[in-house]
Amino acid sequence: MIRVLASRWQGSVLVCGKCSKKLGGGFGDKGRTPLVKLLRQALGVKKGRKADRGVVEVKCLGVCPKNAVVMVDGARPDRWMLVPARVDVDDVLEALSHLERAALPPVSSPSPPSASLPLP
Ligand code: FES
Repeated sequence: MIRVLASRWQGSVLVCGKCSKKLGGGFGDKGRTPLVKLLRQALGVKKGRKADRGVVEVKCLGVCPKNAVVMVDGARPDRWMLVPARVDVDDVLEALSHLERAALPPVSSPSPPSASLPLP
């Protein structure tokens, strides 16, 4: 049986932890802060399902760029971002908000009818 838990997440961001580890953090004033920590601070979110948004450190995503960290916005999983080391956190937030705006459906488009499955 699969249990379902409620969450306050309105979105999610995946950040490769191995990329951050290879950079020794790579962000912040001294270049030692991991991107996931910097994003959590900038967005004011904590860990767990009670946060407004999930900022999750994940294992290697298979891209493995040099001097950058792979980041995926859950709202746009079709566009992965390579965040260069030492880039300003405001630029990262701007990239995320830009993707979120692009992911919103046009105002005039009707929403598709929701299919409901009969319960067994
Ligand atoms: S180390 Fe980050 S994608 Fe492989």
